[in-house]
Amino acid sequence: MLLKRLSEALGVSGNEHEVREIIKEAIKDQVDEIRVDTLGNLRAVKGKGKSPRVMVAAHMDEVGLMISWIEKSGLLRFRKVGGIDDRVLVSKTVLVGKDRIPGVIGAKAIHLQDPRERETPLKYEDLYIDIGAKSKEEAEKKVKLGDFAAFATCYEEFGQRKAKGKAFDDRVGCTVLMEALKGQYEFELNAVFTVQEEVGLRGAAVAAYDLDPQMGLVLEGTTCSDTPGTDPEGYATEVGKGPALSLMDASSIANKKMVQEMVRLAQENGLPYQFRRTTMGGNDAGRIHLTRQGVPSASLSVPCRYIHSPVSVISLDDLENAVKLLGLFLKTVEQGFRP
Ligand code: CO
Repeated sequence: MLLKRLSEALGVSGNEHEVREIIKEAIKDQVDEIRVDTLGNLRAVKGKGKSPRVMVAAHMDEVGLMISWIEKSGLLRFRKVGGIDDRVLVSKTVLVGKDRIPGVIGAKAIHLQDPRERETPLKYEDLYIDIGAKSKEEAEKKVKLGDFAAFATCYEEFGQRKAKGKAFDDRVGCTVLMEALKGQYEFELNAVFTVQEEVGLRGAAVAAYDLDPQMGLVLEGTTCSDTPGTDPEGYATEVGKGPALSLMDASSIANKKMVQEMVRLAQENGLPYQFRRTTMGGNDAGRIHLTRQGVPSASLSVPCRYIHSPVSVISLDDLENAVKLLGLFLKTVEQGFRP
C-alpha cells in the first residue's frame, strides 16, 4: 500500500531522497513532464501550457534528528530538525542515516534519578542515541556527523478505519496529490512535492517563485486535538470528521473564495468536511501566497493526532474524502472557477 511505503520511508528535512524516489517511480507514467529542482523539490506537470497554471503542493520531509557529536563511548548526541517536543523522544527507536542503522534514544533510568530529576522533563540535550557501538571509533564506521535520524515506526491499520504510523505529516498530503495525478485536466496542473517544509517552508518558496502559479493549494497532514485535555471549543480538528479546510494559521490566511468553493463542493456532494479552527502552525501556503505579486492559496488537510511525534493516528476515511474533495475542486477549476 502506497501510504505504508511513504510513511515508512525516511525523509527528515534535507534528506528527502527516499520519499522522492518512491513518488517519482509511481507517477512517472501519469505526467507529461517530471523534474527535480536545485533544492530537491519533485515537480510534475500535466497539461503544460494550458490555463490556469495551478500549483498543488505536498511536502515530502518529516521532522527528525541530526547527529551532532559522537561521544568516546560511541553514544551519539543530536539536534532536532523541525518542531519536536523533547518529551516524546525518550526511549524511542530510531534509524540513523541512509543505511538505517538502528538506534535507541537513551536516558538515565528512573532508579538512578534523584527526586528533582524525576519531576523535570528531560531535554533533548540530556539524551543520546545508542547504536550499540562500543567506542567512538566503532560508531564512526557507521555514522557521520550530519547524518539524520528518523523514528523507526511501522505503519499499521487498526481500530475503526484508522491507521498509525510516522510522518503522516505530510505523507498523507503526498498520497492525496499522487491520487490526483491519475486524473486528466484541461488546465496546467503542477504537482510539487516539496522539501524542507518542516524547517521553514523553504522548498515551496523556490518552486512557487519559479512556477509563478495563478492559484496554490497545499495538501497537509494537520494538527488534531480531539483528545482529553482540550475542550471541544479548542479542537484544531477532529479525526474522522472529514478533511479540514484552514481559515488562518501563523503563515497565511486562506483565500476565502477557494475555501467557500470547497465547502460548496463538499456540501453538494455529501462529503464531510471541517474547519481547522486553531491559528497556530503554518504550511507551504505561507510561502506560496507571498510569491511575486501574490498567489491566491488555500489548504486541504487530513487531521493527524499526535503529529510531529514518533507515531500519529489518522482516519482512512478522512484520507479518502480528501482525495474526493480535491478531485471535485480540480474539476471545478477546469469548469472555470477562479479565486
Ligand atoms: Co506538515
